[in-house]
Amino acid sequence: MKVLVTGANGQLGYDVVKELQKQNIECYGAVRKDFDIVDFEATEKFITNYKPDVVIHCAAYTSVDKAEDEQGLCYLVNASATENIAGICKKINAKMLYISTDYVFDGTKNGFYEVDDKPNPINVYGKTKLLGEQAVQKILDKYFIVRISWVFGEHGNNFVKTMLRLGKERKEINVVADQYGSPTYTADLAPLLVEMIQTDKYGIYYATNKGVCTWAEFAEEIFKIVGMDVKVNHITTAEYPTRAQRPMNSRLSKKSLQINNFKYLKLWNDALRQFLNR
Ligand SMILES: NC(=O)c1ccc[n+]([C@@H]2O[C@H](COP(=O)([O-])OP(=O)(O)OC[C@H]3O[C@@H](n4cnc5c(N)ncnc54)[C@H](OP(=O)(O)O)[C@@H]3O)[C@@H](O)[C@H]2O)c1
Repeated sequence: MKVLVTGANGQLGYDVVKELQKQNIECYGAVRKDFDIVDFEATEKFITNYKPDVVIHCAAYTSVDKAEDEQGLCYLVNASATENIAGICKKINAKMLYISTDYVFDGTKNGFYEVDDKPNPINVYGKTKLLGEQAVQKILDKYFIVRISWVFGEHGNNFVKTMLRLGKERKEINVVADQYGSPTYTADLAPLLVEMIQTDKYGIYYATNKGVCTWAEFAEEIFKIVGMDVKVNHITTAEYPTRAQRPMNSRLSKKSLQINNFKYLKLWNDALRQFLNR
């Protein structure tokens, strides 16, 4: 099996390539200098030459707030480029695994989102990621769509690293305490994705770490684990206005993993402890 990973310089792409290499699976981690995914011809030329059996598409426009002001670019990267890659996969008969997001939902549901719940994104990033999903579903039969949320990993920037930095500078931090979701540790997710692509259990999955928290609880756990004396003030979303609106409820049901005999990722607090101990 030969696998091409896009966005190999990003948080998730980096760990997916690391996992494939660990398992001695032939792979290539493509970065922007190999091909810019909005250059459709260059993308097609590169992927067709490499001729993978699977494409794991991790590259994305991920600046959620900036996307509100860069709608065109965000659309091009997340929707059009994904459609192009799906078309290439069709031509070379490759499977495609597309990473998506909890932000395809508006967050108004009570309880956990199931895979057949109707998406209704409330920001530009979420809308473009959903268009990416729809293109994959329209073009391909052999696809996995894996929705994740609140990603953290060793490579790249994330909430955990931001909290550690702010914690060194301040004694108190205000953190939103009315948005609920689940963190996703890239080192836990990568082995699941590598297992998934070796099956034909196609479809939509939610694959965050187990358990639910708010951003404030997430922050408190970070400081507790590393033993930093930082007070986390719980504030509301209304008290912390951002350019892009975010869903208040991002709880994703993991039933699809269980039904298809995939293991759940460990509890988010255990994943966080492992990450911080590394
Ligand atoms: N981060 C989260 O909290 C989160 C939550 C839910 C879902 N997701 C999804 O998870 C996936 C991985 O996210 P991540 O956190 O690993 O993102 P990330 O760290 O921002 O990495 C994204 C990668 O995409 C690459 N990229 C962007 N535009 C490109 C282009 N035009 N051509 C080629 N490469 C391009 C970037 O390359 P450069 O390094 O050159 O810029 C970067 O390496 C994405 O699909 C994202 O939508 C993320």
